[in-house]
Amino acid sequence: MQNFEYQTPTKIIFGQGVIEKLPGVLAQYGKKVLLTYGGGSIKKIGLYQKVLELLKDFEITELPGIQPNPKYNPSVLEGTRLCKEKGIEVILSVGGGSVLDCSKAIAGCACFDGEPWDLITGKAPTLKALPIVDILTLAATGSEYDCGGVISRTETNDKLCYASPLVFPQVSFLDPCYTFSVPKNQTAAGVADAINHILEQYFCEDSTLMNDGFCEAGIKSLMVNGKACIDNPEDYTARAEMMFVCTLACNDIMSLGNSRSGWPMHGIEHALSGYYDITHGEGLAILTPRWMQHILSERTLPRFVKYGVNVFGIDGRLPKMEIAQKAIDSTYAFFQSIGMPMHLREVGIGPERIDEMAHHVAVNEGLENAYVPLDEEDIKAILLASL
Ligand code: NZQ
Ligand code: ZN
Repeated sequence: MQNFEYQTPTKIIFGQGVIEKLPGVLAQYGKKVLLTYGGGSIKKIGLYQKVLELLKDFEITELPGIQPNPKYNPSVLEGTRLCKEKGIEVILSVGGGSVLDCSKAIAGCACFDGEPWDLITGKAPTLKALPIVDILTLAATGSEYDCGGVISRTETNDKLCYASPLVFPQVSFLDPCYTFSVPKNQTAAGVADAINHILEQYFCEDSTLMNDGFCEAGIKSLMVNGKACIDNPEDYTARAEMMFVCTLACNDIMSLGNSRSGWPMHGIEHALSGYYDITHGEGLAILTPRWMQHILSERTLPRFVKYGVNVFGIDGRLPKMEIAQKAIDSTYAFFQSIGMPMHLREVGIGPERIDEMAHHVAVNEGLENAYVPLDEEDIKAILLASL
């Protein structure tokens, strides 16, 4: 078991109707609020109106229009400007992972006087950040319980993770009812994203029995509850369990003490959504079985066997390679069964820029240190197999 340090300062307030506590919670951080949100889904479900009604005694400044794969320009820059001009004391983020990620970047940049991009890239350290409270409306990324945010810079095709312990949300309101309206394709993309977060932790050199069990249970729960959410979007029990598993799946809690895996599929996916602005979970669903196939070897075989037997119930008496292959095929079949595109061409990506993306990933993502090290040729092979 490896050494580790762990602290998650975020308070989770979970369940139906918990939003009533919002004014009391927010008042602890101040009265001048930057309300961040996306393209309008929160208005369609009445959440925007509810928030304004609850916060009538607060001074609200709005930053609407944060896009999926949130953009440095304009959203981060505009939010930073508003915070500085209006003396904002707390950011209230209402939406999915993109809104929350963008809010984390704004929280750091608002307390920084240099070039904001230097903070995002980590060239300058984050020494201070505005507090963040969020109301999550889409179960997927786990951004509500971690200290990272993924930001895209369109002109350079960069999509990179800004992280600091100072941008953990202070409080995350998780009401599963706000996810009832998430469309089927986004629900499925959320399932694929969260399953992949767990796989990124499960496939490593050195793990504990407890973590393996935690990961296997998490994946099984996401498969069962994810399908139930797609079949019946207003199934509270399924939406609730899916939401909570997604929350736990990305803040390292499932792999404390494990050796590092390097999160290779995320490293490659960031290029796909950085270059083509595709939905993150769709990119991951396509890459996952191809990455698995690429790294299957005598060395990695025991992990695949454990995964196949414990997650899919494959007969453990079969030859080990057969179990591993069935596990990869079952992973593919599951993503296909929830309606995920399974080829890059289906999301508008052809062979044209594969060399360039493979080079970008090799230079920027450090995958030579992954569980199975990947160089530019490996990354290219995985991308080509995904076409
Ligand atoms: O913009 P609005 O109108 O709100 O619509 C959104 C958006 O179009 C919609 N939506 C959200 N809640 C809804 C809803 N529609 C109906 N009803 C609701 N209740 O869904 C669309 C997608 O939203 P988005 O926030 O982009 O999705 P998600 O939560 O999957 O976030 C994806 C982003 O998070 C990053 C991804 O790379 C991507 O940029 N990630 C963040 C991570 C983190 N912070 O730890 C880890 C992940 O691996 C991931 O990289
Ligand atoms: Zn992800």
